[in-house]
Amino acid sequence: MSLFNVYPLFDITPVKAKDLNVYDDKGVEYLDLYGGHAVISIGHSHPKYVSAISNQVSTLGFYSNAIQNPLQEALADKLVKFSGSKNYQLFLCNSGAEANENALKLASFHNGKRKVLAFKNSFHGRTSAAVVATDDPKIVAPLNAQQVVDFVELGNLKAVEAILKQNETCAVIIECVQGVGGLDQSTTAFYQGLGKLCKENNTILIADEVQSGYGRTGDFFAFQKHKIQPEIISIAKGMGNGFPIGGILIHPDIKASYGLLGTTFGGNHLACAAGLAVLDVIDEENLMQNVRDISDYFIEKTKAVPQLKAIKGRGLMLGLEFDFPVAELRKKLIHDHKIFTGSAKNPNLIRILPPLTIQKKHVDQFFEALKKELD
Ligand SMILES: Cc1ncc(COP(=O)(O)O)c(C=O)c1O
Repeated sequence: MSLFNVYPLFDITPVKAKDLNVYDDKGVEYLDLYGGHAVISIGHSHPKYVSAISNQVSTLGFYSNAIQNPLQEALADKLVKFSGSKNYQLFLCNSGAEANENALKLASFHNGKRKVLAFKNSFHGRTSAAVVATDDPKIVAPLNAQQVVDFVELGNLKAVEAILKQNETCAVIIECVQGVGGLDQSTTAFYQGLGKLCKENNTILIADEVQSGYGRTGDFFAFQKHKIQPEIISIAKGMGNGFPIGGILIHPDIKASYGLLGTTFGGNHLACAAGLAVLDVIDEENLMQNVRDISDYFIEKTKAVPQLKAIKGRGLMLGLEFDFPVAELRKKLIHDHKIFTGSAKNPNLIRILPPLTIQKKHVDQFFEALKKELD
């Protein structure tokens, strides 16, 4: 037992996967409605993705960021164009927490302020600054806690205003659909008001799109629904379909001196090949339309489940809220029906985060299993 234990694990060992199916070491097939925690965007082992990574590793897998890497340029151009984030520039790193860490550092460097405003039930990662902006004191160490973060109830603009007026807040960081916290979201009026308050008070608005980005909500970024323009956008998870890659998209007004941001592995050749293949597939297979269609179908099906208290989230980032804790139900789904789902901070909520390639037959399979357990 040499492995440091960090999660309670299900007793299943996946050894291979294809699109929405995962197979364990005994050959049992599972339906993946969890996407490895919103990571698998274009389906497991997509042929285009497999050949992009294989070709890249057999030519040049890695070289240092101190030399030219045209794949980074290609990925940045494609991402900026595809996401509609005109004139933004991309910095590449390796994970969601790292993206947020760099976003917060850059914001503070830009306007010289020290405090951060985050929202109740937020999750931004486990590294030093990201973990302090995460609303979970259990995972914060004394070393991290030097950073000062104000937590505000999602939707409470008055509270945001009172804090930003003190002129100490470098950044507001927000998930426009909360992930780990339980799929809560606020109104367009709130997000637009937030954008306005940030501008008026020289505070950088950071949209954490680590989970909600890359088409998962039916828009490329969740904030786009509200027609706001954050200065920094954090991305990771679905970006590499399992290959570790993250980044921040940075508004052209924000500048950094050489050396402020940097990384050994971020944006390496293999990661870029993975990132480019993912964007190609999202585009060529029109996956954002599929997200919207299947989401409508899924939500329609929930109407036949009287035990459901609420449906949260949107697109393929959905929370099914019951009026009882769902741990046992999730165990039955996985062991008896061979279906992976996600949990959330709210113990009554099942989180649905499938690959964006999901089809109606997968949704039917889930609702048949749910019906058997609940009836
Ligand atoms: C919204 C959000 N931000 C940041 C993170 C942290 O990402 P990572 O685990 O890649 O560091 C997560 C992970 O779940 C997340 O959901």
